[in-house]
Amino acid sequence: MACFLGIDLGTSALKALIVDDREAVRAEAEEKLAAEHPAPLASEQDPASWWRAVEAALARLHAAAPAAMAEVAAIGLSGQMHATVLLDDHDRPVRPAMLWNDGRAHAEAEDLKRLGTDLAAELGVPALAGFTAPKLLWLAQHEPAALARARALLLPKDLIRLHLTGVRATDPSDAAGTWLLDEARRSWSARAVAAVGIDPAMLPPIVEGSAPAGTLRAEIARRFGLRAGIVVAAGGGDTMVGGVGIGAVEDGRAFVGLSTSAQLFVAADAHRPAPARLVHAFCHAVPGRWCQMAAMLNGAGVLAAVAHLLGDADIPTLLAEAEARFAGPGRLLVLPYLSGERTPHDDPYARGVVFGLTPDTSRAELVLAALEGVAFSFADARDALAVGGTRIASAGIVGGGARSAFWTRLIASVLGVPLRVYAGGARGPAFGAARLARLALGVDDPATVLVEPPVQRVIEPDAALADAYAPRIEAFRRLYAALRPEFAR
Ligand code: XUL
Repeated sequence: MACFLGIDLGTSALKALIVDDREAVRAEAEEKLAAEHPAPLASEQDPASWWRAVEAALARLHAAAPAAMAEVAAIGLSGQMHATVLLDDHDRPVRPAMLWNDGRAHAEAEDLKRLGTDLAAELGVPALAGFTAPKLLWLAQHEPAALARARALLLPKDLIRLHLTGVRATDPSDAAGTWLLDEARRSWSARAVAAVGIDPAMLPPIVEGSAPAGTLRAEIARRFGLRAGIVVAAGGGDTMVGGVGIGAVEDGRAFVGLSTSAQLFVAADAHRPAPARLVHAFCHAVPGRWCQMAAMLNGAGVLAAVAHLLGDADIPTLLAEAEARFAGPGRLLVLPYLSGERTPHDDPYARGVVFGLTPDTSRAELVLAALEGVAFSFADARDALAVGGTRIASAGIVGGGARSAFWTRLIASVLGVPLRVYAGGARGPAFGAARLARLALGVDDPATVLVEPPVQRVIEPDAALADAYAPRIEAFRRLYAALRPEFAR
């Protein structure tokens, strides 16, 4: 029986899983990752920690499921988007990677915005601080020596490929997040590359996500009980590969992504830029498909941060407490913008806020307000997509946050759409990466692979709850609008 290995390089964890050809999960492994925040607005990771996490995960899979490892016929990759992975002429990182939620390059993003709306449409969205291109301009200004040593630019998952295969390549969905890609043509944009002033030779070839982009090196195969020479698919950005995992590839198929970050994603059969409210119109991770996504920087990471503040409280316990005491909208308001926000605010300076504390505020109320704050940001996401003419009738939900039926009900109600929860749906992009691996063998018809997995339950919106939340969402928006100038100060 053939098996497929999917590897997802997230921000808080590296996940690897093996599925068989019926998509039953044979083994999974997870390694925690940590981000550093060495300066205001900074968010960085050491690329060496990514490869160490891959080695640890592969070693665990090998120990737990040697037979499945030996049956792996192809590997697929997924990863956090937008980072600057700059390598010197010995393929060593010249500095830590600046991540998707690093807000330092705000001024440089503003400079790139001044290049005009035409270019923003070509690249899918106006330049935003977390994208790779403005961060390259920031490095040119603040760390010119590091940038001068750089010979190659990759995205995070592409560094894993380099270790596995020795091949430098990326794919259109991850390339999209650099703000250097001509989205309609799925190739590097000469205008954007010139605007950033980097040597085009630094950019890797672009290979479609479901196509082969390298073969496994014999030495890695030996160490982990894999077969040498198996194909490594190009893979894609984590949000898009999450969509691949739930079959969200046909025009109009939508999902809510609720991992560290959050997305409202709609697949499209053409490049349809809708930049007014900062919808990202990017390439999908399969050929001939694009997407529109509202990209929020603060998803389940907000709940993790609250749990940390509450003395590293157990998250399922916190959720159970909040649900047990739930009697409609809470009294507190939480602005969830811990890492700044992209859609719809373009505000790297925004921060988390708890508004309305009283002497008797309980931790259940604080947790509820955090869940509500993230849910309210989905109302903004839906409205941003609607401004560009995209409306959602129903959606799937993926990511760690989807494990909470209670949170999912709040989001379904705020969005006013039913949300489909998948059996094992919290596996997310690693599962999609395994599908890309399978497609890279060129044997299966993509239409038979890119299907929706079994739906475990559909969580319907609660109309009464939606009505009760409407004034709270308005208050949430007023609170942000009032504080925006303070954040910037
Ligand atoms: C999408 C985005 C996130 C990151 C982190 O624009 O920023 O999906 O890839 O996971």
